[in-house]
Amino acid sequence: MALWGGRFSQESSALFKLFNDSLPVDYRLVEEDIVGSIAWADAITGVGILTQEECQSLKQALQELLAEVKEQPESIQASGAEDIHSFVEQSLIAKVGDLGKKLHTGRSRNDQVATDLKLWCKKEGQALLELLAQLKAALLSLAERELDAVMPGYTHLQRAQPVAFGHWCLAYVEMFERDISRLQDCLQRLDTCPLGTGALAGTAYPMDRHALAKSLGFAAPTLNSLDTVSDRDHVVELCSDAAISMMHLSRMAEDLIFFNSGEAGFIELDDQVTSGSSLMPQKKNPDALELIRGKTGRVYGSLMGILTTMKALPLAYNKDMQEDKEGLFDVMDSWSICLEMAALVLSGLKVNRENTLSAAQQGYANATELADYLVAKGMPFREAHHVVGEVVVEAIAQKKPIEEFELASLQAFAGVIEEDVYQCLTIDSCLAKREALGGTSLTQVKAALAAKG
Ligand code: ARG
Repeated sequence: MALWGGRFSQESSALFKLFNDSLPVDYRLVEEDIVGSIAWADAITGVGILTQEECQSLKQALQELLAEVKEQPESIQASGAEDIHSFVEQSLIAKVGDLGKKLHTGRSRNDQVATDLKLWCKKEGQALLELLAQLKAALLSLAERELDAVMPGYTHLQRAQPVAFGHWCLAYVEMFERDISRLQDCLQRLDTCPLGTGALAGTAYPMDRHALAKSLGFAAPTLNSLDTVSDRDHVVELCSDAAISMMHLSRMAEDLIFFNSGEAGFIELDDQVTSGSSLMPQKKNPDALELIRGKTGRVYGSLMGILTTMKALPLAYNKDMQEDKEGLFDVMDSWSICLEMAALVLSGLKVNRENTLSAAQQGYANATELADYLVAKGMPFREAHHVVGEVVVEAIAQKKPIEEFELASLQAFAGVIEEDVYQCLTIDSCLAKREALGGTSLTQVKAALAAKG
């Protein structure tokens, strides 16, 4: 039976029930709903609605219910209840009879659902922080294993300048550290307790909402009942944090898909995280990485979904807001599994150093070095840039790297060039020069890695 039957003389249509029920989605809030109900039993006992004995019986029955649904989670959906709040209340009444009907005194499903969802966000947010930390650890250990492998760095997907593989790893560490701090910030902001704000105007019972918030582990109670029951900023923020982090994951996936391509051949992925082709026996496809890239799209979709659902909703609660959970749950599930998968991919990843080095040696990645060399010999940079451009055109025409020109040929481009130019054009020298903070010299990369550890 619905919680609100008294005013109605006709049953809901089957289609309306199917359309309106949220249990198939919000069953995941069962633990939070029971924990919130236990805290509510105490709160209404404090204002004289329940005796101590009644409160004890309700709390005991709620604890039993929690144990039962953990044992048999499928019983929730099988109940056919309208939503998770109805399920918990009807199960409670089945256990303790009329006493169960007292629990909803002074409470609305509007402050209840807001509380359940925030409790869930806090729990999931902590789990995500843990997974982000694990991914960061996987990147740090890959950086340690492959720190000094040299590969080409790219701009416009054209070989630009050589970089250390460890530098690439630490670039993503920076991104995931920002994701961690964004999520921490969001979790701090959502840490306020909606319970005790009623349907929209506040509860009519003079309870201590500070104590209630504390008993549920929140930092503080919310301060305005109208805002509280219609606030879903935390859902938008979590989806947004997830979308940004998925953007980082998908960029990392894309880099690795390219590194793994036959054309680059920079890395080898573990058999555990790749699959074969049903037709082409030679294939080893980077499915895990492609799925990370692919799932990013649906996370962005859910962010747009919740923003659009909330747009222009009048105060206070509107049923539109029931649409908040499906997207959020999917976002958090997708984000979690992608973080885990990315860490697994990184843990089995091997760098093919011969290929990365030879690619770094091709494509005139040391052209900037020659320009800097000319600058050191007194030529203004703009002129040096022009001269080196001419050297590169000639080198391309002759199909050889700059360092294979005889000294005399180089001197024909710029008289200041001397024998020491060859040392300056080596990969080691290219890297070693980038030793200002944040650069790719091995000393800098090692220092950056040590600072993260
Ligand atoms: N299932 C609802 C939701 O998820 C619970 C709140 C219902 N409140 C109401 N006034 N109908 O939003």
